[in-house]
Amino acid sequence: MSPLHVTRTLPEDATDAALRADVQHGLTADPKTLPPKWFYDARGSELFERITELPEYYPTRAEREILTGRSGEIAAATGARTLVELGSGSSEKTRYLIDALTELRVYVPVDVSESALTQAGQALVEERPGLDVHALIADFTAALTLPDTPGPRLVAFLGGTLGNLLPAERAAFLASVRALLSPGDALLLGTDLVKDEGVLVRAYDDAAGVTAEFNKNVLSVVNRELGADFDPGAFEHVALWDAGKEWIEMRLRSRAAQTVKIPALDLAVDFAAGEELRTEVSAKFRRDGITAELASAGLELTDWWTDSQGRFALSLSTAR
Ligand code: SAH
Ligand code: TRP
Repeated sequence: MSPLHVTRTLPEDATDAALRADVQHGLTADPKTLPPKWFYDARGSELFERITELPEYYPTRAEREILTGRSGEIAAATGARTLVELGSGSSEKTRYLIDALTELRVYVPVDVSESALTQAGQALVEERPGLDVHALIADFTAALTLPDTPGPRLVAFLGGTLGNLLPAERAAFLASVRALLSPGDALLLGTDLVKDEGVLVRAYDDAAGVTAEFNKNVLSVVNRELGADFDPGAFEHVALWDAGKEWIEMRLRSRAAQTVKIPALDLAVDFAAGEELRTEVSAKFRRDGITAELASAGLELTDWWTDSQGRFALSLSTAR
């Protein structure tokens, strides 16, 4: 078995500097915001894995259904020797793809969560002795330098994570993915689809309260890293559907008027009773819209597969 290679493109202190800048900017803005990548410390990654098993959270099961049914077609269409996965998390669903890609030599999982990445990477080198696993601790919204590995290259971006970027960020992200592709390479993209509002809201506001805990975990990250005194219990989890923007918006609503101190930034932040802090969007897509967004980034959609209930889509695109 080859050892797990881990490369950190984020210097240890870049995370801290970036977190400070994001918290300073986001908590002094109106409305207040915090960017989603800070959800995923070790506890956040664990909570997300629990979300994927909730009865209300259908996207993981729907995407797994498509991968089990279509990985053979994806393998035949791409012949990939290198699989790069952005926001790979536990790499759980990726195993269907890895097993179907008969020419695969190298798997490059990319994630900001070091704990998720090393756990998943270590498990994979043990399970798949012929596979080189080169894990990259990196922010996929920044410029990515990928290891020099054999082509063709398949870049996978699963889980509907594209929907967690705002429209302008999405356009920049897709253009940067396009820049990673040479002729013969492909992008495999998982997107959640627009559907009944009740089904969507329940997926982000589950009865057991795991999503609420996940949302509030970002406050614990700020407490630990910047010495803040957020009381997660003083905030209520809110998930609502914005029919105009076609996205779920996650917020944390202050239960009472309160002031939170953030010593590392020398900052005191006032919250009015009922004031909401926006933490994350999860955009839902339609085939025409995503085809157009891909085209604007220089990518041509060549295949489109959905689960049997039409809830979630996987698409394959190539550089135009
Ligand atoms: N692909 C997995 C996990 C999806 S959750 C699945 O489908 O189940 C989103 C993942 O993206 C998490 O593992 C999180 O740590 C990672 N992530 C979020 N923002 C990121 C960023 N800016 N750069 C790199 N990884 C990021
Ligand atoms: N990519 C996932 C999604 O949009 C992330 C996610 C699931 C999430 N549940 C969440 C993010 C709750 C924030 C809060 O479905």
